[in-house]
Amino acid sequence: MANKNVQIKFTKLFINNEFVDAVSGKTFPTINPTNGKKIIDVAEGDKADVDRAVEAASAAFSRGSPWRTMDASARGKLIYKLATLMERDAEYLANLESLDNGKAYGDSLFDINFSSDIFKYYAGWADKIHGNTCPADGPVLTMTRKEPVGVVGQIIPWNYPVLMLSWKWGPALAAGCTIVLKPAEQTPLTALHMAALVKEAGFPAGVVNVVPGYGPTAGAAVAWHPRINKVAFTGSTEVGRLIAEAAAKSNLKRVSLELGGKSPLVVFSDADLDEAVEIAHVGLFANHGQSCCAGSRTFVQEDIYDSFVRKSVAKAAARKVGDPFAEGTEQGPQVDDEMFNKVLGFIESGKKEGAKLECGGERFGKEGYFIKPTVFSNVRDDMKIAREEIFGPVQCIIKFKTLEEVIERANNTTYGLAAAIVTKDIDKALTFAQSVQAGSVWVNCYDWVVPQAPFGGYKQSGTGRELGEDSLKEYLEVKTITIKLPQKN
Ligand code: NAI
Ligand code: MG
Repeated sequence: MANKNVQIKFTKLFINNEFVDAVSGKTFPTINPTNGKKIIDVAEGDKADVDRAVEAASAAFSRGSPWRTMDASARGKLIYKLATLMERDAEYLANLESLDNGKAYGDSLFDINFSSDIFKYYAGWADKIHGNTCPADGPVLTMTRKEPVGVVGQIIPWNYPVLMLSWKWGPALAAGCTIVLKPAEQTPLTALHMAALVKEAGFPAGVVNVVPGYGPTAGAAVAWHPRINKVAFTGSTEVGRLIAEAAAKSNLKRVSLELGGKSPLVVFSDADLDEAVEIAHVGLFANHGQSCCAGSRTFVQEDIYDSFVRKSVAKAAARKVGDPFAEGTEQGPQVDDEMFNKVLGFIESGKKEGAKLECGGERFGKEGYFIKPTVFSNVRDDMKIAREEIFGPVQCIIKFKTLEEVIERANNTTYGLAAAIVTKDIDKALTFAQSVQAGSVWVNCYDWVVPQAPFGGYKQSGTGRELGEDSLKEYLEVKTITIKLPQKN
């Protein structure tokens, strides 16, 4: 049940299975985006706390430790247990998520259940990670072992707080790594409850550590740490570069990055118009447009362009904005004042550069960070709103003529996270799917993200993949063992 008066139980750092204050004693406020007021103060981690967390994670990873000597199947059972505890606490976690992030309660509950499914998926992997025997030249027996990379640092954003945590913890735990997680400063609360569930599930101390704090302090300490062997990051391209630089200049830790995009969603005139409008609407407005794979360039073929715009405007104008805890709310506030102002700035630039504002374009209500669902038509490829990630409820509808032309325009971006095509023509769908430079391509659907299939970016949308078997590889080293035999046999 939706309940905004949710009781907050954990506000301290989680290190070595204990909730502790920051070394500095400092705290920072986490803000309710529906009214801009403080929810509660949370311990503010910094370098000294990251050091302590890495210490605990290193000890948990040391030779002979409970975690290292545990059967892989037992590791899988712990991960599964975590998933079932999440299910027990699903409503509580969803309320906490909606309070801290502002997303509609139903969306939060969806995220929590999806996250639990991800843990179950990776629980199954724990005892199925294995190497090969190789037909090596010479009188030898050669085999490979897949071993955990060690202590991993994970830095996550605020748009899907629990979901991003599960995408990162699931494969890391299945691989046998130990973790130092830094949640986003806007949304630290659910990660701390997840930490409590880690302890309750029975994970040995130090396997999972959570250090809330700010990016340039706690986040940078993770990225630069000489004893962290791998860093996984989701967030802006700008910070992604800093993470890669820190990794290169410190200890060449392994890096995986998921950095958002400007994903093209292409609608051909042969499509069912209402269905196409719905796919494009949800593909952009889901999660208030705060989604790395949002279909933020809606390309529509010229002969249906005007009717597509009309129907899209009607849909956007009818989208229910308001209290995330109220029944029927589809869109809550943007996450903070920074994002609120950034999105309004994009809207101003769209107007200035000559796009046609069809609806929305301004704040909703008098307090908090709500923005009316906004639609621009007559958007050109060279406009700022068509090139840069807006990360808000702003749909940009662009006209195109032919398949060849739209493929070229779709690829004319530094990003490459996702793409979609809506058409009844299989030839068009396949040609587009094979030609577009994107890590995920959806045909006649959008946002179809599942635990079993990889997700990640081409070009500056990132490196590496999350979810599926591919994500495990990011957390594993491959060791080759060669044993000399008396003779060739
Ligand atoms: P951000 O990239 O600054 O924050 C993401 C995470 O990185 C947070 O945990 C933050 O504390 C941490 N961080 C920030 N600076 C850091 C540093 N120097 N070293 C280590 N960690 C650091 O993203 P922000 O400022 O919240 O949003 C800015 C833009 O980024 C958005 O407008 C959107 O375009 C994009 N973004 C993309 C996301 C995605 O899912 N790919 C998620 C969030 C934001
Ligand atoms: Mg930032």
